[in-house]
Amino acid sequence: ISRYAVAGNPVAHSQSPFIHASFAQQTGQAVNYERLLCPLDDFATTIRAFAAGGAQGCNVTVPFKFEAHALAARLSPRARLAGAVNTLRFDDTEGWFGDNTDGAGLVRDIERNAGVPLAGRRVLLLGAGGASAGVLGSLIAAHPAGVVMANRTLDKAQALIDSHAAWAREHGVAIRASTLADCPNGFDVLINGTSTSLAGSGVPVDAAVLAPGALALDMMYGPAAASFLAWAREHGAVARDGLGMLVEQAAEAFEVWRGVKPETAGVLAALRAKVE
Ligand code: ATR
Repeated sequence: ISRYAVAGNPVAHSQSPFIHASFAQQTGQAVNYERLLCPLDDFATTIRAFAAGGAQGCNVTVPFKFEAHALAARLSPRARLAGAVNTLRFDDTEGWFGDNTDGAGLVRDIERNAGVPLAGRRVLLLGAGGASAGVLGSLIAAHPAGVVMANRTLDKAQALIDSHAAWAREHGVAIRASTLADCPNGFDVLINGTSTSLAGSGVPVDAAVLAPGALALDMMYGPAAASFLAWAREHGAVARDGLGMLVEQAAEAFEVWRGVKPETAGVLAALRAKVE
């Protein structure tokens, strides 16, 4: 039986074990997937011990995605672009492989599950922390008309826009940074990658950022996404939480490890029933 885990702190409420157990059953793979609570000051030691104990890989969640990036001997292009890793595969001979499946998961959820093709759409990404860094590259690769990254601290957004400039040029997509206050209006797709809901503060932008019928997606789910989603609905947007993204990024990670891509619709429906 192959062993994997989600490594984070906190990790007790992670739905990843449920998702991967569903994938394993569906694909007939002998996979055991657990939760691995890592001390804040000792992520590397915990992960090395997990690997030494015979595990094949792990997912990495808050706040260790940057440390996981540093632990990988080899990186996928998308993980290198993000500067963060959410999926490690403990390859013996070539060294650990680090990937980031968050952006692909988000794009797949928006395009396939929500039915909104990103090509030609105007996208606004709120926040410039780890969550936003992980998805910017994939959003650009979906060929939107443009992406604005708006953040309370302009410098952080500008640094991410700069690190993605060549990638955006390659894809012919206009990207730029903005403060929350100076953000332009009328976006087709609004993605919340800030932690304002967790902090108990309100949505940090004016509702004019939403074009009529816009899709407003929070990368979080449950109570952490509630205030953003309520705000979005109140202003006529189609509101979507991060559960679909969670399942889709997990499916991508499962494929990195097992070479087979599981079906996600049934798992997302079961997960929704479980958490709601
Ligand atoms: P994560 O890894 O989850 O993205 P993070 O790196 O701490 O967490 O980033 C949190 C994001 O939420 C940042 O973009 C942060 O803005 P700053 O870069 O200016 O700190 C944003 N954020 C947090 N609290 C906020 C608030 N009250 N108003 C606006 N933005 C907030």
